[in-house]
Amino acid sequence: MTTDIRPKNIDWENLDFSYIKTDYRFISKFKEGKWDEGELTTDNQLHISEGSTALHYGQQCFEGMKAYRTKDGSINLFRPYENARRMKNSCDRLLMAPYPEDKFVEAVKKVVRANEEWVPPYGTGASLYLRPFMIGVGDNVGIKAADEYIFSIFATPVGSYFKGGMKPSNFLVSTYDRAAPRGTGAAKVGGNYAASLLPGKEAKGRSFSDAVYLDPETHTKIEEVGAANFFGITKDDVFVTPKSPSILPSITKYSLLWLAENRLNLKTYEGDVFVKDIDQFKEAGACGTAAVIAPIGGLQVDEAFHVFYSETEVGPVTKRLYNELTGIQFGEIEGPEGWIEKV
Ligand code: PLP
Ligand code: COI
Repeated sequence: MTTDIRPKNIDWENLDFSYIKTDYRFISKFKEGKWDEGELTTDNQLHISEGSTALHYGQQCFEGMKAYRTKDGSINLFRPYENARRMKNSCDRLLMAPYPEDKFVEAVKKVVRANEEWVPPYGTGASLYLRPFMIGVGDNVGIKAADEYIFSIFATPVGSYFKGGMKPSNFLVSTYDRAAPRGTGAAKVGGNYAASLLPGKEAKGRSFSDAVYLDPETHTKIEEVGAANFFGITKDDVFVTPKSPSILPSITKYSLLWLAENRLNLKTYEGDVFVKDIDQFKEAGACGTAAVIAPIGGLQVDEAFHVFYSETEVGPVTKRLYNELTGIQFGEIEGPEGWIEKV
């Protein structure tokens, strides 16, 4: 049972990515055209109508972000307004009532402050994962947007998303798609993740960390690595990452793109990444809030297994990107203006 865990009992260094019930979550309701003020609650159960559109038609979306404990004990959020903006885009795509972006960040801070003792200590590598989400609720049955919504944010302390964290692991190019060509791939909506459960299970069943998805239209280009974006470093030191309307625009990926260019002095390219050309890369990785940077050791493409830098060692550019990114998040390195928001 997760409910009995208290911060003093947690082995912070060995946390994985599992749900631990923390003390407070934020909840706000949209009814008759407006959001209420919202409140913190200790109740982690939702009581909703059986006619909720989230239950039948997948009218829901979510975000993923983290709070980081710094050396001086203060707490950092990383680019939270980007999450607020992306959630608005997801809401627009599914005809949901957007939650005001400044209030989103305010509510995230409230949840972190209320759960302060759950923010992992500095130096453990762990962080407090925040999960803002919105669901369509109310008494409905026809396929149409709901009139009522619930917006909530819960927090749970986490460690590595992929087993081993910053250690290389292998991935499998899937024959399935997670999103349709002009569908919802760029929105953070539950349906994309439901579609990824079977391919993810197949990949894990074959001892890979997760599935790599190709572009749904031609199946020739790399798009996503499970619930993370892809990047590769070419032999002549270009940071390359796919661009496609069916990829989730990763805040981590755009941060790495900026860091590669401005801190590591690499050239960068965002465009097509043909799977047939993967031997151009000397290093490759998956990046995201949960994944941070997970180095891709090898990639199984049909019958062929391609190794990037090494199946056991992290490449030097990947390592530098990781140090730069996590250094900023944990407050050890000065980031560009606006990247860190103090709680
Ligand atoms: N791609 C998918 C499908 C994801 O679920 C995530 C996680 O949020 C990402 C990429 C990475 O995005 P971000 O860096 O904004 O967390
Ligand atoms: C994230 O990186 O925040 C994600 O949302 C990935 C996954 C846990 C869904």
